[in-house]
Amino acid sequence: MATVLAIETSCDETAVAIVKNRKVCSSIVASQILVHQQYGGVVPEVASRQHLETINEAIAQALEQAQLDWGKIDAIAATCAPGLVGALLVGLTAAKTLAMVHNKPFLGVHHLEGHIYATYLSEPSLNPPFLSLLVSGGHTSLIYVKGCGIYETLGQTRDDAAGEAFDKVARLLKLGYPGGPVIDKLAQQGNPQAFALPEGKVSLPGGGFHRYDASFSGLKTAVLRLVQQLEKDGGQVPVADVAASFQETVARSLTKRAIACALDYGLDTIAIGGGVAANSGLRKNLQAAAVKHNLRVLFPPLKFCTDNAAMIGCAAAEHLSCGHTSPLTLGVESRLALTQVMKLYHPVE
Ligand code: KG4
Ligand code: ZN
Repeated sequence: MATVLAIETSCDETAVAIVKNRKVCSSIVASQILVHQQYGGVVPEVASRQHLETINEAIAQALEQAQLDWGKIDAIAATCAPGLVGALLVGLTAAKTLAMVHNKPFLGVHHLEGHIYATYLSEPSLNPPFLSLLVSGGHTSLIYVKGCGIYETLGQTRDDAAGEAFDKVARLLKLGYPGGPVIDKLAQQGNPQAFALPEGKVSLPGGGFHRYDASFSGLKTAVLRLVQQLEKDGGQVPVADVAASFQETVARSLTKRAIACALDYGLDTIAIGGGVAANSGLRKNLQAAAVKHNLRVLFPPLKFCTDNAAMIGCAAAEHLSCGHTSPLTLGVESRLALTQVMKLYHPVE
């Protein structure tokens, strides 16, 4: 059982956690949302500076909350890709320095692998193969998880990520940033059938539509047109109904694709991850469809859906148990396909 101290600074949360395999000993998440809110989105330079100011205190708090000292830590991990380069650098440099000073193994972790393994924190008995529906602010994909570090992308969005669509629609409804949680809350007071919105299908060259790929930019434009029309008509925009109809359309699109994928590939479990995995509409929709098709849907605990370091520690512990460690020369990368994760680790003899 490895105890890992993990750091996550890929975007706007400074997070440090200590994880004993699939059990969380401590998890600190210092959100920068209030700082970025005034700009309507994440400002990369501001994020890096905030990480720098917060990281040491977050590390100290994680150790204190777990009541552990460095002697009890077996390895140190940090997210190294994908994400904002300046932000990633802060966490990765801290982790490499600590690994060097305390003479511990070091592991770089792919952010999306963290989101995949977040489900292990609520379902410690889960093991591959399973289908992962990754829905975050930057990514939307269906991943066939074959083993630790072994992935195949079966489907993805052709344009906006699901979380990005939530954020953009929230902005046009003047609901502020980040949009997902606000829309989720408002949608609960609205009628999801109030407006028929286009699901956004991806055409195939030979005719028909892609079964797994999604598209959300058309949906966002449809919401914009709807709002403009409602404003032109002079009435008050029924914001809760618009939010509910939008959320329902996203949930239906993702559910349909995830279920089709699981059935086609004979996978009986769908694990969802990423910020949008917190969405109540998606959870309800997917759960209902899964029951109908005799599939199992697993969600991470709510607080580990959005960015956190416990999921990074969990992914690192998986790699460590396979004998994977990273060189201290590892750098950060703003983009890195999930299928490339094994290049982060030393070759295993
Ligand atoms: O995974 P995450 O914290 O960061 C990335 O790796 O991108 O995801 C953030 C995204 C944001 O777009 C946010 O609006 C969305 O997740 N989100 C939600 C909810 N909570 C967060 N979207 C829909 N419903 C929610 N409850
Ligand atoms: Zn994330």
